[in-house]
Amino acid sequence: MNNIVWHKTSVTLAERIGSNGHNPCIIWYTGLSGSGKSTIANVVDRKLYERGCHSYVLDGDNVRHGLNKDLGFDDVSRVENIRRITEVANLMTDAGLIVGTAFISPFMADREQARKLAASRFIEVYVDTPLAVCEQRDPKGLYKKARAGDIPHFTGISSPYEPPVMPEVHLRTASLNVEEAAEQVIQALIEKDIIS
Ligand SMILES: Nc1ncnc2c1ncn2[C@@H]1O[C@H](COP(=O)(O)OP(=O)(O)OP(=O)(O)O)[C@@H](O)[C@H]1O
Ligand SMILES: [Mg+2]
Repeated sequence: MNNIVWHKTSVTLAERIGSNGHNPCIIWYTGLSGSGKSTIANVVDRKLYERGCHSYVLDGDNVRHGLNKDLGFDDVSRVENIRRITEVANLMTDAGLIVGTAFISPFMADREQARKLAASRFIEVYVDTPLAVCEQRDPKGLYKKARAGDIPHFTGISSPYEPPVMPEVHLRTASLNVEEAAEQVIQALIEKDIIS
């Protein structure tokens, strides 16, 4: 770090906010596999796009295809996975974007780290779906494999999930459809003055 100096950008964030017409933030979706993070994040993203907002979704599987393809699923790798995602999301908010991140992010300490780095721009969305419901949905067939012992460190089965204590948005998807869940996120963005 010694000889690395942060270079100031010629276009300021305030200028970007001015031309975008909204504030940047990180919408941090967390929840079990199959809870609905990617599904809800993408419906929210579509709604933002239709409002003319500049947004993007960083999705677990997509990031692991490239940026984080060298990482596994043990605890150390999960921590590094979240650290890199947080840094990328932070750069994207510095570019003025509303960034959705859809990762299981099972550990409270990592989410708190992300919150600290993003400061006031962090909106934690707990996609709260009981394990039994996730397992019944099993959209990728992963629970079946995990129960058979074919996937080590599977969150909810052989690796812990630490639920958020005070998330900004709490979505109980067992009693909300996807549209209602996405609308709750949009309302939270309005309340927090991210969008109008
Ligand atoms: N109310 C709901 N909210 C969200 N998803 C729902 C709801 N009801 C049913 N589903 C279904 O549950 C599944 C959720 O899968 P999705 O891939 O979004 O989960 P995920 O949290 O991104 O999982 P992973 O961590 O494995 O990527 C989808 O098939 C979706 O259609
Ligand atoms: Mg997903």
